[in-house]
Amino acid sequence: MSRPLDIQAIRGEFPILSRQVNGKPLIYFDNAASAQKPNAVLDAMSDQGRTAYANVHRGIHTLANETTEAYEAAREKIRGFINAGSTNEIVFTKGGTEAINLVAYGLAGEIEPGDEIVLSVMEHHSNIVAWHFLRERHGAVLKWVDVDETGALDMAALEAALTPKTKLVAITHMSNVLGTVTDAREIVRLAHAAGAEVLFDGCQAGVHLDVDVQAIECDYYVLTAHKIYGPTGIGALYGKAAALARLRPFQGGGEMIEVVEKDRVTYNEAPHKFEAGTPPILQAIGFGAALDWLGQFDKADVLAHEQALYERAYEAVRGVNGLTVHGTAPGKGPVLSFSIDGVHPHDVAQILDRYGVAVRAGHHCAQPLMTHLGVSATARASFGLYNTLDEVDGFIEALHKARGMLI
Ligand SMILES: Cc1ncc(COP(=O)(O)O)c(C=O)c1O
Repeated sequence: MSRPLDIQAIRGEFPILSRQVNGKPLIYFDNAASAQKPNAVLDAMSDQGRTAYANVHRGIHTLANETTEAYEAAREKIRGFINAGSTNEIVFTKGGTEAINLVAYGLAGEIEPGDEIVLSVMEHHSNIVAWHFLRERHGAVLKWVDVDETGALDMAALEAALTPKTKLVAITHMSNVLGTVTDAREIVRLAHAAGAEVLFDGCQAGVHLDVDVQAIECDYYVLTAHKIYGPTGIGALYGKAAALARLRPFQGGGEMIEVVEKDRVTYNEAPHKFEAGTPPILQAIGFGAALDWLGQFDKADVLAHEQALYERAYEAVRGVNGLTVHGTAPGKGPVLSFSIDGVHPHDVAQILDRYGVAVRAGHHCAQPLMTHLGVSATARASFGLYNTLDEVDGFIEALHKARGMLI
């Protein structure tokens, strides 16, 4: 039985939401950059630190065992969250960026000059620059798939980009700028038919969608905790067991080895072979707590609420003279990116901040997309489950005032 979506009660669990900014109640619409954390997450980390903290996997004493249990329990929660088949397929990383770099580094030894990596123009720099490394250092060729005027991925172009040289398709599951949700199952079907593996950047999708990596059949899936009401400094890479077994380890150090001698080293099995050194233990436990917290609610209820927030905002701005909304693909996530003719998005964001409204302005780490859209930056309001329709109205009122001052 899921917990009802009582937004006022939920807001009460996020201490930061009751603060004021510039003398106004905070309206936090920067969730796509990082979400706020409920008491359940903050408490899980501080309780563990205060009552049962030691290093993991190293000791036979009680605290080490208790900490290891909590750390491994968090791995199990992530497994369940995306319905992976085994906890051995879940690698803790320090975030989404590190998870993608781990795969790029791990695959590097298999890349021959001319091998192709297919990306979309709406990728976050995390899912671009790691592949540029393979281009610069190993001669990989990056192939780019466009989005149409609504921001939907051009599936025909994706299919046309696949060749026998395609090693990997690395695509977002939800764009951090447009909100576009990609057809993950169909992308995998096309890529696998061409003999290529698929990595999904799920950094935005994780918090909004019901992700099932076994149903999608992807080879890799990337999550980051800080956008799922969890802490910073922790994320996860899902990799199919066979894929992780093939990948070269990313970093060398303690815990990722089997045997170390003066002239040879052998590695531990996945996931440990990718977790060199002391991991972010409390953060991993906080990640697990965030998934427990979010898991109380029905995902469909959460998404319906977030969509209602988006729709209210979209309906309010769509007719405004000189205002363009970027990303209107059907089924998109709750992210409203927009530009106003003749006005720099930073100025919009700065004035909104005076009214207590936190939105992001800039290229959103998606410069190829900005080029595609023909803008240098956009303003972005992104919604989370603790946001309210009244906050959307407050944002729209402040936006009209900002517009009045700037044009
Ligand atoms: C789509 C997307 N991919 C990757 C990242 C990077 O994730 P992290 O901040 O965990 O490194 C972000 C975060 O901004 C993102 O929005």
